[in-house]
Amino acid sequence: MKAFLQTVTEQMQAAFEQAGYPKESGVVTLSNRPDLCELQCNGAMALAKSAHKAPFVIAQEIADELAKVSGEDAAFSKVEVVKPGFLNMDVSPAFLAKYLSQMASDERLGAKEPEKKKKIIIDYGGPNVAKPLHVGHLRSAVIGEAVKRIARFAGHEVIGDIHMGDWGLQMGLIICELKERKPELPYFDESFEGEYPKEAPFTISELEEIYPTASGKANPKQAEGESDEAFAPRKTQGDAYKAKAMECTKRLQDGQRGYRALWDHIMAVSVADMKKNYENLNVDFEYWNGESTVHDRIPGMVKRLKDEGYAHLSEGALVIDVAEESDTKQMPPCMVLKSDGASLYNTTDLATLEMRREQDQPDQVIYVVDKRQSLYFEQIFRAAKKSKIVDDDTDLFFLGFGTVNGKDGKPYKTREGGVMRLSDLIGQIRETMLKKILDNKNAGGSNGEEAGGETEGLDMKEAETIANIVALSAIKYGDLSNQAAKDYIFDIDRFTSFEGDTGPYILYTIVRIRSILAKYEKSGKEMAKDIAIAAMNSAEAKELALVLSRFGAVAVNAYEELAPHKICAYVYELANACNRFYHSTRILGETDEAKQKGYIDLLRLTERVFTVAIDLLGFTAPERM
Ligand code: ARG
Repeated sequence: MKAFLQTVTEQMQAAFEQAGYPKESGVVTLSNRPDLCELQCNGAMALAKSAHKAPFVIAQEIADELAKVSGEDAAFSKVEVVKPGFLNMDVSPAFLAKYLSQMASDERLGAKEPEKKKKIIIDYGGPNVAKPLHVGHLRSAVIGEAVKRIARFAGHEVIGDIHMGDWGLQMGLIICELKERKPELPYFDESFEGEYPKEAPFTISELEEIYPTASGKANPKQAEGESDEAFAPRKTQGDAYKAKAMECTKRLQDGQRGYRALWDHIMAVSVADMKKNYENLNVDFEYWNGESTVHDRIPGMVKRLKDEGYAHLSEGALVIDVAEESDTKQMPPCMVLKSDGASLYNTTDLATLEMRREQDQPDQVIYVVDKRQSLYFEQIFRAAKKSKIVDDDTDLFFLGFGTVNGKDGKPYKTREGGVMRLSDLIGQIRETMLKKILDNKNAGGSNGEEAGGETEGLDMKEAETIANIVALSAIKYGDLSNQAAKDYIFDIDRFTSFEGDTGPYILYTIVRIRSILAKYEKSGKEMAKDIAIAAMNSAEAKELALVLSRFGAVAVNAYEELAPHKICAYVYELANACNRFYHSTRILGETDEAKQKGYIDLLRLTERVFTVAIDLLGFTAPERM
């Protein structure tokens, strides 16, 4: 289906042609002076020179043409020619109503089909096995999931790949530490030929403790004021431990049986835990691949890079030069193998791109990663293109996000100053939300309004379920309403507020609409299957209708710009328009049934658009709150 502005533009373009002007000039946009008009067209201005006429005269000719279109077909109810040559228009309520009725029966809610259906892989989440998820991983998951849903809604085929950090030194550290603690385990007995136990020799909480301990041992910190001499023995110890961990890593990668079996256990325990965490966030992945997935293709890739001359040795390491003449910043070469021949983060990312090309032939690969990795990805992208790991026309896109800060403007930390675990953060928001919902309930439901999500008779279990749903909206909206690249302040009080530009405010509005619709049905009135929008009869209804008409275009644009915040800005606008309509209109009390049905159908479409829009953002609305 065509976007609403497209349909009115076509009518304007016909008028330009009728008047003898090129139709390209007849583009209609939203008004930048909403106090004067709803829509505008500035096309006459640019034509003045070539037509040797005053723009005002041209605009008048167009207006005269438009006046010839009449009845239901006329897009505009008002066309004004304003000096020096602008056209200011209002939309005809009947025309708008017709568009909205069509939109209501369109699965895509007015979003146009893409010219070319692209295959897109989104690399997001990026958790590290055996390390607890922290707030940085929250952003990748939340933004990546939203981008995935938005791209799908825009009509593309989209695959989400979690790309776990499940290979390399971090796994070696865990194995090394386990070996120190439980050397008697069969995994460490090289002569063991039997079957390894099915049970993992650790739980997830042990695993999550083991990694930081091991990492701390390998990288001892020099205390403030501590002399180098005093620190030296600990440093030596740390280096020795790290050497052992590197040895473990190498053996794992070389395929030592016991280490591989242990690795399988680490993965099973860790992935089960990750799945729970991501499920809580309403985030899911098509591919659960990781750095380890491509291990076996590294030798072949490296050989080709060498044979075809793309990579060369530099100080013992194998590198691909990626600097370009036009660079204004220094662009270091992309390292493919370290001087000891070990692979690294870069190697697995390049091999992953090779695998993606072979298995999925994506048109676009989007990486949703901390923006501090932007130089790294620039190197990877250039290396991959230059060495034909990906095709020339594959669009590699880095969607870098900023830091989550506390109210002090510094990276979000626990009260004790440690890294904030994602599960603790979610716990905090859920707790705050539950308290609010219980307070609301004790105050007698939603302020005793005509229609709200009444919470009387809510039991604790249901209150918790609702709190969790609303909490998720608070977290996700709090994140997504900012431009991804910007840092933002994680402000629990603001995010959980029922007022203002927040997730809970949006949900509250949706619950309110659903409550009105339920009451309408309960009063015995029938709700026809098809939504038929009536011509709006108030400024507030018209405002709401105009916002609704833009949804499809907004969604497509949010994909084109990879900008979930545009969906947030839209739903906020929709919520405001909806609430203004609600407060100015007697809906359930309306005695004129036809009028009432018009209001109800407008609300039904609003509810539909809201439901789809928040689904794009990756959250849902509760039945009541
Ligand atoms: N595991 C990495 C981290 O925690 C993020 C992975 C990002 N994706 C990628 N293809 N490199 O920083």
